[in-house]
Amino acid sequence: MSTTKEAITNEAMTGEEMIELCRRHTLFEWSAQAAVDPIPVARAKGIYFWTPEGKRYIDFNSQLMCVNIGHGDERVVRAIQEQAAVLPYANPFMATEVRARLAKKLSELAPGTIDTFFFTNGGAEANENAIRIARMFTGRHKIGARYRSYHGGTAGALTLTGDPRRWAAEPGIAGVFRIPDFYHGVDKRSDTAEEVLARTEETIQLEGPNTIAAIILEPVTGTNGILIPPDGYMQGIRALCDKYGILLIDDEVMAGFGRTGEWFAVDHWDVKPDLISMAKGLTSAYVQLGAVGMRREIADHFAKNVFYGGLTYNSHPLACAAALATIAVYEEDNLIARAREMGHVMHGLLEDLKARHPSVGATRNIGLFGIVELVRNRETLEPMAAFNAAAPEMQALGKFFREQGLYTLVRWNTFFTNPPLIITEAELREAFAIIDKGLEITDRAVK
Ligand SMILES: Cc1ncc(COP(=O)(O)O)c(C=O)c1O
Repeated sequence: MSTTKEAITNEAMTGEEMIELCRRHTLFEWSAQAAVDPIPVARAKGIYFWTPEGKRYIDFNSQLMCVNIGHGDERVVRAIQEQAAVLPYANPFMATEVRARLAKKLSELAPGTIDTFFFTNGGAEANENAIRIARMFTGRHKIGARYRSYHGGTAGALTLTGDPRRWAAEPGIAGVFRIPDFYHGVDKRSDTAEEVLARTEETIQLEGPNTIAAIILEPVTGTNGILIPPDGYMQGIRALCDKYGILLIDDEVMAGFGRTGEWFAVDHWDVKPDLISMAKGLTSAYVQLGAVGMRREIADHFAKNVFYGGLTYNSHPLACAAALATIAVYEEDNLIARAREMGHVMHGLLEDLKARHPSVGATRNIGLFGIVELVRNRETLEPMAAFNAAAPEMQALGKFFREQGLYTLVRWNTFFTNPPLIITEAELREAFAIIDKGLEITDRAVK
């Protein structure tokens, strides 16, 4: 039995009490539990969130790169409340108005001829269904995916995932192979589009083109480094898929819904995928929802063939209502164009950091999707922390950000700059002023 007062009264908890009970009775993600140090969150509005004691944080990672429209938008809150009052749930064999409206709207926004959607609880399930659809449609079984990628925390999606989160889930599902990356680390030269495409084609030939159902990739890689492909890469992947009858699955779970300054990241290269997965920004995480969208020809396949897939919460009305209201916010407030504009401002601020701080080895951004890579040697560009490792300087930087009320993800030798798309120039500058000060810590480690 808990001894904290909250177990026996309804008084609001202190931050410490929240942490104590959450740590005692829940598991935190991807962590040894003794090492977690959660921030207690009581409320959030706009680009900020607060602890119960009133400490304010700038949310410079949009939580998990998902609260794209910012926190507490009344229009979305109202839409959820209204839906809850009328029809909070109907099973997925039913037709509902919100499901109908959302699918119609997404068919207008999605690239190319993608006009049919299967709704899920999040990104991992969208990818699970995307690969199953690709296998059912092509009659082939293999899926190519990159090492520098994350596709979700369920069995198939973790096998697709290239980063170390995959390791504990191995051997995983059968039939997944790796296609090459163009990026090899801050201290190494990146491949040109021609180089990486030539190696990709060689891999396809070695695997056997007729055995490959799909290639899945993040058009701009998220957690694994905001990797923006060289021009020609996405078009080249599309061409290889066409040449060998392979479907292209576009994982827009993190990069979609304005994050990069376009509705979907593939729109930057005008590439039309066969399947698209989405989640996060679809509802800005006000309610959990994912979706896999498919081209008409693929949807037509399931006119006569059974679609083997199902989820109790598929097309959940509360989530569909949240998505419709969120999409209306992107449109009403011009948030896609705004992400592009503020992305230019962020680009200048990142360049400025690079010019002035010896520990900044590289910066990248596309729209409001940004990253800083830190190094401990100006000549060799040795990363401040090794691959999949922590470094005391990175921990000290993370601690400084937290003390100063700046929340963002610090991972290996990188940290992210992914604020809600509603951020103003003044707010961006306020956050970068904190970063600027913090980098004095990592600068001291540079040889
Ligand atoms: C590119 C990408 N795909 C898939 C996922 C998995 O989404 P979810 O956590 O909603 O299952 C994520 C989550 O971060 C992601 O970034």
